[in-house]
Amino acid sequence: MSGWLARGCEELPASGPEGTGWLSTAEQERLGRLRFPKRRSEFLLRRWTAKHAVLAVLGEAAGSGGAAAAARVAVLNRASGAPYVLVDGAPLGLEVSVTDRAGWAVCLVGDGPDPVGVDLELVEPRSDAFVADFLTTAEASRVRARPTGDGPGGRSELADVVWSAKESALKVLRTGLRTDTRAVEVTLRDSAPGGPGVAAGWRPLAVRHMPTGQVLPGWWRRDGDFVVTTAAVRPHDPPALLPTSDDLARAVPVDPWPAEPFADVRRR
Ligand SMILES: CC(C)(COP(=O)(O)OP(=O)(O)OC[C@H]1O[C@@H](n2cnc3c(N)ncnc32)[C@H](O)[C@@H]1OP(=O)(O)O)[C@@H](O)C(=O)NCCC(=O)NCCS
Repeated sequence: MSGWLARGCEELPASGPEGTGWLSTAEQERLGRLRFPKRRSEFLLRRWTAKHAVLAVLGEAAGSGGAAAAARVAVLNRASGAPYVLVDGAPLGLEVSVTDRAGWAVCLVGDGPDPVGVDLELVEPRSDAFVADFLTTAEASRVRARPTGDGPGGRSELADVVWSAKESALKVLRTGLRTDTRAVEVTLRDSAPGGPGVAAGWRPLAVRHMPTGQVLPGWWRRDGDFVVTTAAVRPHDPPALLPTSDDLARAVPVDPWPAEPFADVRRR
């Protein structure tokens, strides 16, 4: 596992025809097919973040504004929707996964060839119906056993970590939500004292694909109002924070439509 990087929508270069020169032709074409401003801004933020994650792994500073360097990296999609990356038109063997939520995006870069998955969620209450409908019986009972609230260790956090880990795992499996979310079951593992990633805030998890028995190991972390989860095919060290990443723990969630902070979740 190479590393992860977070970026916020406020850093995006100005939009408009002259403001998206950092996108490849194929990315420009995809942007052109997105009609709604919210979808366009989310796509742009995912591309901006993924390109800078790849540049950081390659050890290349993006330079002022970052647009010229970002133009060298293309993040394209397979027919399934899963992303792949080209640098100067060539595949370098890196695997990426990208996600956005509330004006922030995260990209996970893996060494390849195995796929990786990452998901970002805002910690927010989930309804009883959501827990009953989308979580397995075991997951739901663990969530209900937690004290209510959005704080660390609370019910919202666990429900959101479980949901997020399912999305990360389903990205690794390349099916996304075409797979029933109850076909994958998330277990949070205890951190070994002094174990890998503990100091950096990562805690271990595992996602079991019930139909096949395949277990996808991963990690999760709480950063302020957000949780991040990762998943991969094999056991791996927690991802390292890449140079040029923003600090998600200080990130203020933004509703990109309209572009105003969420008053109810803003706590700093
Ligand atoms: C993968 C999925 C769970 C992510 O959903 P999300 O929470 O809305 O979005 P996130 O921001 O976390 O992730 C979006 C990224 O997931 C990735 N992704 C999409 N489909 C994927 C797949 N089958 N496998 C792995 N990654 C996938 C893409 O990189 C996408 O960003 P991009 O399109 O800019 O490249 C969801 O898009 C999905 O289920 N897709 C497959 C089914 C589908 O196409 N449904 C259509 C709508 S019902």
